[in-house]
Amino acid sequence: MSMQQGWEPHRLRMQSRIVGAQGAEQSAASFLDPVLYNSPPHRLGRKHGNIFQSYLPLHLTRKVLLFMNIIVTGGAGFIGSNFIFHMLKKYPQDRIICLDCLTYAGNLSTLAPVMDNPNFRFVKESITDRDAVYRLFEEEHPDIVVNFAAESHVDRSIVNPDIFLETNIHGTTILMDACRKYGIKRYHQVSTDEVYGDLPLDRPDLFFTEETPIHTSSPYSSSKASADLFVLAYHRTYGLPVSISRCSNNYGPYHFPEKLIPLMIINALHDEALPVYGAGENVRDWLYVEDHCRAIDLIIHEGRVGEVYNVGGHNEMRNIDIVTMICDALGKPHSLIKHVEDRKGHDMRYAIDPTKIHEELGWLPETRFKDGIALTIQWYLDHEDWWQPIISGEYQNYYQNMYGSRKEV
Ligand code: NAD
Ligand code: DAU
Repeated sequence: MSMQQGWEPHRLRMQSRIVGAQGAEQSAASFLDPVLYNSPPHRLGRKHGNIFQSYLPLHLTRKVLLFMNIIVTGGAGFIGSNFIFHMLKKYPQDRIICLDCLTYAGNLSTLAPVMDNPNFRFVKESITDRDAVYRLFEEEHPDIVVNFAAESHVDRSIVNPDIFLETNIHGTTILMDACRKYGIKRYHQVSTDEVYGDLPLDRPDLFFTEETPIHTSSPYSSSKASADLFVLAYHRTYGLPVSISRCSNNYGPYHFPEKLIPLMIINALHDEALPVYGAGENVRDWLYVEDHCRAIDLIIHEGRVGEVYNVGGHNEMRNIDIVTMICDALGKPHSLIKHVEDRKGHDMRYAIDPTKIHEELGWLPETRFKDGIALTIQWYLDHEDWWQPIISGEYQNYYQNMYGSRKEV
């Protein structure tokens, strides 16, 4: 195969997004960013001028320029979408490919702000579809894969564990098989503090460190822990350059309405019951989603291969206090709060010790809870167009099944 034939598919693929603007004769390098794209060759300088005239495949041209191709799986969900926004803003030359099969939790409208960005591509496929994943690697030659794709809701895992095994475990191994087959600079697994199980309420001195043994409670956390073990096994057995982050509870824009904070905001806005599981004394360590995104950004660029990094902001709150705070912020009566039958196997307390990521990578959370929760509540007030279509569809059936028969306690 000649060099010319070698780069043709990439050239065509890239051109299909912009051919109307400049015609078919632009060189591959010029499609990479607006500066090169709009500059005549003589103004590009020696380095760019050389590349401009070369016939390197586009992905190699991008590598020469040190631009990254990053596959973000699950990018139509809550944290993945926030991560895509963060990355496209901070690294405008990098190309982000979002791989998401759009389950009930994936929402294409979330990605509307970046759909027209020439350095963004959305691909509707499942991480459990090996052929589709391999095809994408052949097309995109990713440098980094960040795996957010997962079934993420504990309550759903209690009702139906099967899909959690398939997506969270098998999907992860398929992605890593692709990384082994095609080569990768970094595979990053977005994991959770739930893999450590829970801590007792009467031992506020205890925290999860990276050395805390895996000790899961729910089918969800067990599937995430299994995936973590596979990630570490692929590192040790095959030398795959992996990293893992285990973060505490996130909150912020685009959080799916089934989760505690958005559920309580939306129910309160409708003057509906606020279903607190049990006494509401369970403690979670809440982190604003942007702080999580910055942590992952740091880990994939500067974190050590083969390492686990805990991410959390020392912001422990009882569920009942969060719900009360939401009522107060929205001017709603506390009488909306209903204590209902507890979640089966309900973890009592999560609390992350983030010393490692702080000392090694300088990460610290930037958003205090009182600011983050105000921003989040305001976001839901301003974005009814985002959540209204979600809660008026299939979500109604989910809500009825999950809460309809839950007795008040
Ligand atoms: P989410 O449920 O909001 O989004 C999950 C996304 O993954 C959706 O867009 C969905 O369509 C997609 N997806 C599901 N199955 C897929 C498949 N087979 N192929 C491709 N895409 C698929 O989840 P989230 O809250 O954004 O969590 C993202 C990741 O972060 C998960 O791995 C979760 O375990 C982890 N995590 C979440 C939190 C949190 O507080 N939300 C905290 C720590 C870690
Ligand atoms: O700790 C990280 C984890 O945080 C992530 O790995 C999960 O993907 C994410 O969903 C989240 O899990 P939780 O189970 O902690 O989040 P959830 O929002 O479902 O519940 C938070 C707490 O609120 C928990 O103690 C259960 C309680 N709760 C939840 C709901 C939905 C209620 O009391 N009532 C509710 O209706």
